Amino acid sequence: MTSRDTLAVLGTGAMGAGIAQVAATHGWQVKLMDTNPAIAQKAIAGIGKRLQRSVEKGRMQQAEAETAIGNLHAIEKTDELNDCTVLLEAIVENLDAKVEAMSPLVKILPPEAIIATNTSSLSVSTLGDRLGEPARTCGMHFFNPAPIMRLVEVIRGKSTDESIVERAVEIATGWNKQVARAADTPGFIVNRVARPYYLEAFRCLEDGLADPEAIDTTMKDLGGFRMGPFELTDFIGHDVNCATTRSVWESWDKPSRLMPSLVQEQLVAEGNLGRKSGAGVYDWSGESPVAIVRPGHDAVTVNQNAMEYIEAFTEKATSAPAEPMQKLIFSRILCGLFNEALWAHHDGVGDTQDIDTAMKYGVNYPRGPFEWISDIGDPVVRKAMEALEDMTGTGRFRPPA
Ligand SMILES: NC(=O)c1ccc[n+]([C@@H]2O[C@H](COP(=O)([O-])OP(=O)(O)OC[C@H]3O[C@@H](n4cnc5c(N)ncnc54)[C@H](O)[C@@H]3O)[C@@H](O)[C@H]2O)c1
Repeated sequence: MTSRDTLAVLGTGAMGAGIAQVAATHGWQVKLMDTNPAIAQKAIAGIGKRLQRSVEKGRMQQAEAETAIGNLHAIEKTDELNDCTVLLEAIVENLDAKVEAMSPLVKILPPEAIIATNTSSLSVSTLGDRLGEPARTCGMHFFNPAPIMRLVEVIRGKSTDESIVERAVEIATGWNKQVARAADTPGFIVNRVARPYYLEAFRCLEDGLADPEAIDTTMKDLGGFRMGPFELTDFIGHDVNCATTRSVWESWDKPSRLMPSLVQEQLVAEGNLGRKSGAGVYDWSGESPVAIVRPGHDAVTVNQNAMEYIEAFTEKATSAPAEPMQKLIFSRILCGLFNEALWAHHDGVGDTQDIDTAMKYGVNYPRGPFEWISDIGDPVVRKAMEALEDMTGTGRFRPPA
């Protein structure tokens, strides 16, 4: 074992165990720590079962699985971290808890080691400052499940050394991940740019444009998205999804584009959290899901002039045939995503390529927003956004200047 290829994982729950699996299958030695060694041991056993299933499905050789398992070590003493290249933290999403758990460890790491956090929502810069290690602290934000999802957002804190960012990128790439570099801003790229996929779908529902099944089908058939927005939010959990929206909306000074949906907040208040509670937008208790949230009655007036631009947009954005209402729904949700990507770029969160990579590999979008805008043609997109803004009058489709 050399210090070059040793990862320390702190917190061996869903994410920590997934990340440990990724590193171990790429030949890294991995030291796992949790609040007690039994939890880390349990995580290793879980990884072993997953790898065994991969062998049974013919995705991995038995010898490879055994080598990977041999690379995993639950550790008891923190001084065993003195040869680690990277400390990757994946404990509870609470800044004080992270600072308290990591502070003693950063003193033991070799001076050149990378200190990385898997946080989804906390400030990497603040964590680095509080650890007294701003230059070598960065974010390495994996997606769940880490062995399957291809993206890692590498987050540069305001004082992170560029060489640390580059090494984090190199390591994630070596683990066969796609990397998007992102600035340390609320929601980073994916959790921010994806907001309108859910929010605009809820607004189409609230405006009475269609029922949830029709909105989901539209996005899958016209857009090539793997899951419709409501199926996906039911899967993620409305509590988690709503909390992310609220945190991103508040942190970015409450723009109307990102305002939480009242219907979604109502679902959370009622305990209808999605699949995990048995019902959300759909009731999941039967053989197939049945929509239980019905469309509202505040239908916006469809402006025929504006519809011409929406038709032109849809024709360029998809080759699938569509009814006028589907075109309106598709344009609203897709233009909402495009607009958030434009704002994220404008706010310096990432460059266009990073934003495209993040959305394709972090949430499996069929195309990156900037690739899609470029295929449709910028003027066609701008006209559709103007038409939607005229129709809704909310500022949601107003791009940055
Ligand atoms: N679950 C996701 O979808 C997801 C996706 C991306 C990022 N994240 C982030 O990853 C981190 C972990 O999330 P998770 O879903 O794996 O959580 P989890 O609850 O599954 O696991 C957290 C683990 O950390 C351990 N832990 C808690 N306090 C600790 C301490 N002081 N010292 C050592 N271990 C401690 C717990 O025992 C548990 O095993 C969070 O920051 C979360 O925001 C989660």
